[in-house]
Amino acid sequence: MPIRHIVVAYDASPPARRALSFAAELAAAFHSSLTLVHAIHIPVTPPEAALAGWAELLAAEERAGEALVDDAVKGLQKRGLTAVARVVVGAPAEQVAEAATGADVDLVVAGTTGKGAMARVFLGSVTTRLLHISPKPVLVVP
Ligand SMILES: Nc1ncnc2c1ncn2[C@@H]1O[C@H](COP(=O)(O)OP(=O)(O)OP(=O)(O)O)[C@@H](O)[C@H]1O
Ligand SMILES: [Mg+2]
Repeated sequence: MPIRHIVVAYDASPPARRALSFAAELAAAFHSSLTLVHAIHIPVTPPEAALAGWAELLAAEERAGEALVDDAVKGLQKRGLTAVARVVVGAPAEQVAEAATGADVDLVVAGTTGKGAMARVFLGSVTTRLLHISPKPVLVVP
C-alpha cells in the first residue's frame, strides 16, 4: 500500500518532535510528502474576543507558529524530503482531522503528549480527540 502523503500534528513539543522524526523516516522510506499542521487555539468566550488586544494576541501567536513550523520544514527539506506546513486557527484535533480529509492523505502522525504534558497523562487531549475523529489511520508515537 502506498503512503503518499502524511499529515503530522505538530506543536513543537519534544513528543511532537519525536513523532515528526518518525514520520520523516516513514516519508523517506515510502517517498511520501509531509504536511505539518500547527493549530493555534486560544480558548475565548465572545465577550473576551471583543476586547482590544485579542486580535494582536492572535497575530503574535500566528507569527510564533509560523516560525516553529518553518524551522521544522527547513530541517525536513535539508534531508531531501518534500514538506510543507500549515498554521491554522482552531481546535487542534479538528484542524488536523480536516487537513487529513484530502484524498491523497494516507496517514496521520501525532505524539502521545505535547506541550501540556504531565507525567500522569498517558495520552493528551488532542491525540485522544484525534483518535476519535480522524478520517485516516492515526499513528501515535511514544
Ligand atoms: N496545537 C497543536 N497543533 C497541532 N498538533 C498538536 C497541537 N497540540 C498537540 N498536538 C499534537 O498532539 C500530540 C499530543 O499533544 P496533546 O496536546 O494531546 O497533549 P498534552 O499537551 O500533553 O495535553 P493537553 O493539551 O491535553 O493538556 C502532540 O505531540 C502533537 O502531535
Ligand atoms: Mg496540548
